[in-house]
Formats: sequence, C-alpha cells, structure tokens
Amino acid sequence: MYGFDTLPRELQEQVVEKVRQQYTPQVAEQWLHPDHLGEIDRPDGRARREGSCHDVVEVFLRVAGEHISRARFSTNGCITTIASANMAMKMAEGRTLAQARAIGQGDILEALGGLPAESEHCAQLAAEALQAAVSDCLKYRAEPWKKLYR
Ligand code: FES
Repeated sequence: MYGFDTLPRELQEQVVEKVRQQYTPQVAEQWLHPDHLGEIDRPDGRARREGSCHDVVEVFLRVAGEHISRARFSTNGCITTIASANMAMKMAEGRTLAQARAIGQGDILEALGGLPAESEHCAQLAAEALQAAVSDCLKYRAEPWKKLYR
C-alpha cells in the first residue's frame, strides 16, 4: 500500500500499532486491508474529487442494471482517506445508484466507528467522490454516445 510494504518490518509494526491506538478497529481494518483499492477499465461511472487539503479520491463504478456491481477507488491520501474511501466503496456495492448516491459523510463515519474531528472531512471527500461517480454514470446513461468521447 503506497510503499508501506517497503518499510522495514519493525517500522511497519510500529506504524500499525500507532494506528490501532489512534483509530477505531474499523478504521485500522479498512486501512490495513483496502480491498476496494484499484481501478476499473472503462467504468460506467467515474469521478475525481480533491479536498482542500489536496488529498484526491477517484472512484470507478461498474453497474449492472440499477445496481452497483463493483466499486473501486484510488487515492494519494492519508490513513483516514484510505479507510473512508474503502468503506464508501464497500457500502456502495450491491446498492442501487439512488441508494449509493444517498451515502453521505455521516454514514461513512458511522460505519468507521467515528474519526478524529480533524479527519472527518476525509469521509466527506469519499462521499463526494462516490456521489459524483454515480452522477457521472447517470449522465452517460442519459446520453450514452458521449461515453465515446471521454
Ligand atoms: Fe484531507 Fe484526508 S486529510 S481528505
């Protein structure tokens, strides 16, 4: 995960221990095992959002009918951005587009068991990127020919 694996083992263990002390078990789990990290080739919906801190989250969606069958993200962000975005992708998969677009910062924070106040905006960034990717999907559904030009 972003070079973490290249750190000496002892340093990795120290970082993991610190994360476990500082954040909820849900946050630590999402960060340690970001199973929704990645991209989707020729996605049905895609959006990139940048926070005021300059962290970026990009979301890729695959849709089957009305439901999101696959959701992935990439980010240059911190521990809590990775945790927030991974949780948002998990929550989106299996939901309808309308349900996924309704996932907000509060839902992500609740699923993570909370974040420190200074990191709550990471959940907002993840929610905005997801919502924008759903909107992108709906836009290209309405005008499918435009997909050819993106
Ligand atoms: Fe800004 Fe995470 S620190 S989005």
